[in-house]
Amino acid sequence: MAEPTTISFARGAPSPDIMPVEAVRAAAEAALAEDWQRALSYGTGRGHLGLAEWIAEMHEVAPEQVMVTNGSMEAANIVIDQMIEAGDRVVVEQPTYDRTLALFERAGAELIGAPLEADGIDLDAVERACQEGPVKLVHVIPNFHNPAGSSLSIEKRKRLVELAAEHDFLILEDDPYRLVYFEEPAAETMLAMDGGGHVLHASSFSKTVSPGVRVGYLVGPEDVISALAEYANSIYISPNMLAESVVWELCRSGALEENVVKVNEALKERRDALVKSLNELIPEARFDPPAGGYFLWLDLEDDVDTEALLIGAQAEGAPFVAGPDFMISGGKSSLRLSFASVPADQIPEGVSRIARALEKLRAGAPA
Ligand SMILES: Cc1ncc(COP(=O)(O)O)c(C=O)c1O
Repeated sequence: MAEPTTISFARGAPSPDIMPVEAVRAAAEAALAEDWQRALSYGTGRGHLGLAEWIAEMHEVAPEQVMVTNGSMEAANIVIDQMIEAGDRVVVEQPTYDRTLALFERAGAELIGAPLEADGIDLDAVERACQEGPVKLVHVIPNFHNPAGSSLSIEKRKRLVELAAEHDFLILEDDPYRLVYFEEPAAETMLAMDGGGHVLHASSFSKTVSPGVRVGYLVGPEDVISALAEYANSIYISPNMLAESVVWELCRSGALEENVVKVNEALKERRDALVKSLNELIPEARFDPPAGGYFLWLDLEDDVDTEALLIGAQAEGAPFVAGPDFMISGGKSSLRLSFASVPADQIPEGVSRIARALEKLRAGAPA
C-alpha cells in the first residue's frame, strides 16, 4: 500500500479509526428515544443536569458543584474571563498547553513560568512566585501532560493544595487526560484533596468519546460554580444539550468505559511504536516515555532549531509542533509529537521522515 502523503504528529486529536462511531450512533438513538425533550430544549447555564449528576457522583461531590460546558477549553475560558483581571499574577507550567497560555495572555495576566520536572511542576518556583507577590491562580495539567507527557506526583499534589491554602491562590486543575492511562490509573485529583475551596477542576469527554462532541465540565465550590453558570447562561443560555444527552447515555450505559479501554489499548500501541522508532531512527532524541495521554515531548541537541526543523518535516510530510509554541520563552530545541493522531503502522515511516529532515537540516540543505 502507498504511504500516506502526510503523517501528522501535530494534531492533539485521535485518528478517525479510534473514534467510537457505532457507540455514539446507538447513544444518540437512545438519547432521542428516552431523553428527547431535555435534549432538544434549552438547558440552564449548568448544562444537562443528568450528566452533571453523573459527573458529581464520579468525583464524589454535590451535583451543584458541577457545570457542563462545550468542552474543557470553554470551561477554562469562562474561569479566566471571570476570575483573571489584567495584571493578575498567574503561574503556568513550562512548557504548557498553548491554547490556555493564549487565554491568559489575552486576559492580560502577568505570567510566571514554573519549570516542569519529571514529577510535575517545580514547587520551589511556585513558592518563590508567592514570596515575590500575590499569586491569583496556578494552572496545572496534572496527568499525562500536554505537551510534556509527564504526571504530577501525589506528594506534589498534596503540597500544591497546601500552598494554595497558605497563599490563598486558586488551582486550575486542567485534567482532560485523566482516564487515558497505559499502565497505572492517575493519582487522586487535587479537587479531592482540597478541603478549602481552592481548586477548580476542568475535564472533558474529548479524549474519552471524541473531540467533536464538545462536552467538558468544571467542578468547584458551589458558590463559584453558581456564579460561573450564571455568566455562562448570560452569554450562551445553555451549552449543547443534545451532545450532553448523548454523552450522558454513553456514561450510563457503560459504553464510555468500554471505549476508554479500547482507546487506551490503541494509544499504548502507538506510544510503544513511537518510542521504538525514535530509539532506532533519532538516537540523539531525549525523552521520557509517557505513561498515558496523547503526547511525547522530545529534546534534541542544543544546536537544533525545531522551528527550522518543522519546515523540513512539513516538506517531508510529517509535521509536529515546535517547542516554542508551548513556552513563554525558550523551547528552541524541543518539540511535541502527538501519537494519538497516527495509526501504529504509520509511525515508523513518520519518524523516518522527521529523521530525514533532521539530517538535511544538519547538512544545511534547503528543505
Ligand atoms: C490540557 C488541555 N486542556 C484543555 C484542552 C481542551 O479540550 P476540549 O476539547 O475539552 O476543549 C486540551 C485539548 O487538547 C488540553 O490538552
